[in-house]
Amino acid sequence: MRDSNENLIGQVDFETKLIREGRAVLVVPSMSGSAPPSHLPVFFNPRSKISRDLAVSVTAAFFSGARDLRVIEPLTGLGARVIRLLLEAGVFGVGFASDRNEQAIRLASMNRELNGLTERLVLRRANANLAMMEAVSKGERFDYVDIDPSGSHITYIESGILATKKGGILGVSATDLSALSGVSPTTSEWRYGVQLHRTYVLREVALRTMVCSVIRSAAKLGIAASPILTVHLNHFVRTFVRIEGGITKALDLLRRLGYLSVCPACHEVSTANQLREVIGRCVHCGSEVKPIGPIFLGRLSSPEFCEKLGRTIESGMYRETARLIYRVANELQDIPYYYPLSLIARLSKRSTPSPLKVVQALRDAGHVASLTHLDPTGVKTNATLREVRDLVAGLH
Ligand SMILES: C[S@@+](CC[C@H](N)C(=O)[O-])C[C@H]1O[C@@H](n2cnc3c(N)ncnc32)[C@H](O)[C@@H]1O
Ligand SMILES: [Zn+2]
Repeated sequence: MRDSNENLIGQVDFETKLIREGRAVLVVPSMSGSAPPSHLPVFFNPRSKISRDLAVSVTAAFFSGARDLRVIEPLTGLGARVIRLLLEAGVFGVGFASDRNEQAIRLASMNRELNGLTERLVLRRANANLAMMEAVSKGERFDYVDIDPSGSHITYIESGILATKKGGILGVSATDLSALSGVSPTTSEWRYGVQLHRTYVLREVALRTMVCSVIRSAAKLGIAASPILTVHLNHFVRTFVRIEGGITKALDLLRRLGYLSVCPACHEVSTANQLREVIGRCVHCGSEVKPIGPIFLGRLSSPEFCEKLGRTIESGMYRETARLIYRVANELQDIPYYYPLSLIARLSKRSTPSPLKVVQALRDAGHVASLTHLDPTGVKTNATLREVRDLVAGLH
């Protein structure tokens, strides 16, 4: 297979080292791991290994049994992700990858040769949107598209949705957590069109703002983007959405957008489908509340897909990912918020109780309850915060 970068293959003018990640051997800048990734001549973050493990595991499970599928990674850096997808997922025939940084493409070319993928990976120095839209303009689409930027995904999302085949998946990450979570409300407003502010559920809000932005971008194009797995880890959030045609499905997802409020006085959470239902006063104590939204209030992960992923994941090879999937699979998907027991402990001036004990006690009291991967002390439940506080007081 030919690409337009043969003149880029060769040496780079900075020091490199060899590392192993998954089944790949990779040449990376020698300062990787010790300098911030954005200060390197080519971006590489060893801490994002779990994000790449996830992409491999999700595509292996989702497409299991298929062969010769097509993948594109338009923000590839030195090619780690696309190379691992080709080597490890067992479903891809050819990969296409691009980056605007010439040095990145040089390194990706070296990595392609090192991993024996000369015939299976097409590399190109190009703008990400151009790479995807050029393919779309020729009628080419991909079974899997992976958008993995530094910062926001929003610049690339429409091209990513259009470049994904119907029935395929789009994997998207973002690292602009302060805009997605409400820590920087002005940026949340202009970038994502949502009213947010800082609350104790900010990690959940970040995931729900991101998924909302993907669903809305797809709906505008008459496409449904249904989340099958959504996680918040370290410095990033990531969702995998199934892409399907059809206004009815797109509308069905839009109808699950809504609002959430967290009372500044009693800390109770309320949810509503319509803005007018949350503007005003807290139903629990009457204090003034500010709405958060619109965000996605539906299921961030599909229990059926998590179950399949849990069954098929190579837990020896992807141990950390397997643990994460187990936690997500056991999370309540229909409660769009959680209570941090650390908050309850602070309010009650007591030590933080065992989250597992609290979950069990809530279940014994007839509520639904689960842990969440978003916070080690977080509990999801249909009980009110007051009910959880009373129950925790009884445990001490
Ligand atoms: C977070 S890094 C990618 C990391 C890679 N996906 C991985 O898993 O190792 C983002 C990359 O996007 C590239 N980039 C940024 N803006 C771009 C654009 N508009 N078009 C193409 N590449 C771009 C940067 O050069 C950088 O290599
Ligand atoms: Zn209140």
